[in-house]
Amino acid sequence: MTAKIISGTETAKAIREELKTEIAELKEKHNVVPGLVTILVGEDPASQSYVSAKNKTAHALGIHSEQVTLAADSSEQELLNLIDKYNNDEKIHGILVQLPLPKHINEAKVLYAINPDKDVDGFHPVNVGKMVLGEQCYLPCTPHGILELLTRSGVNTSGAEVVVIGRSNIVGKPISNLMLQKRDAGNATVTICHTRTRDMAAHTRRADIIIAAVGVPKMVTADMVKDGVVIIDVGVNRIGKTADGKAILAGDVDFDAVKEKAAAITPVPGGVGPMTITMLMKNTVQAARLAAGLI
Ligand code: GUN
Repeated sequence: MTAKIISGTETAKAIREELKTEIAELKEKHNVVPGLVTILVGEDPASQSYVSAKNKTAHALGIHSEQVTLAADSSEQELLNLIDKYNNDEKIHGILVQLPLPKHINEAKVLYAINPDKDVDGFHPVNVGKMVLGEQCYLPCTPHGILELLTRSGVNTSGAEVVVIGRSNIVGKPISNLMLQKRDAGNATVTICHTRTRDMAAHTRRADIIIAAVGVPKMVTADMVKDGVVIIDVGVNRIGKTADGKAILAGDVDFDAVKEKAAAITPVPGGVGPMTITMLMKNTVQAARLAAGLI
């Protein structure tokens, strides 16, 4: 069996077209222009490239976007002051602080400082709590993108054995929770594997769906999966550089070998990555609607 490729690039393109129309309508009918600010502290090249992709996409869709970069040695207070400024800026509906932050800055303190109504990342504890309760909130972008990919590619998750590898606050914990909820792309039986899991392959071999979010290149090998598995690969690992200096990327799954056994698989790049950015745009539009009293 050779797997169907679940293209995040194509799915993201379709959602972006829907958003473009929605954004144009918001402007025309309600004079509302969604606004997003991205804040980056330091010069990590991967973070720089993510943030610049987010701003470029926002701009292309008609979202007002601002990009602020603070020096790596900026104080926690400087960052908190900036967040406070944007919490009170009516043009800005969504605030995103790119993670990870430098070690001297307390990440929790920073995330707690963002107005939950502007927390388009879905990282504030108010939004995390609402998500767990199944209430209306901003869903974190990568898990939200995974749900859309599964739904739009027709993967039935109800009753499925889902194995999530990784327990991060950004991906592993929220996607595990969402997939067990009574919702579209939910109703699954979820197992979470992590660095202390004794026999990971024993779990992954049972899985109908594997979601890998560990940050270890090609960790999931063909002998760890059963025939017909659906693979969602969240990993974006830089494993080298081309002659012209471009990063060579690999996922957390050994794509070439696993695709011969899987029913469907997301590639890296072009899988989950474009979806994450697109769901950020969707959340920003939701934030603008909320601020305008249209939700
Ligand atoms: N770093 C890696 N993924 C993300 C994300 O989805 N949001 C933010 N703010 N930082 C990240």
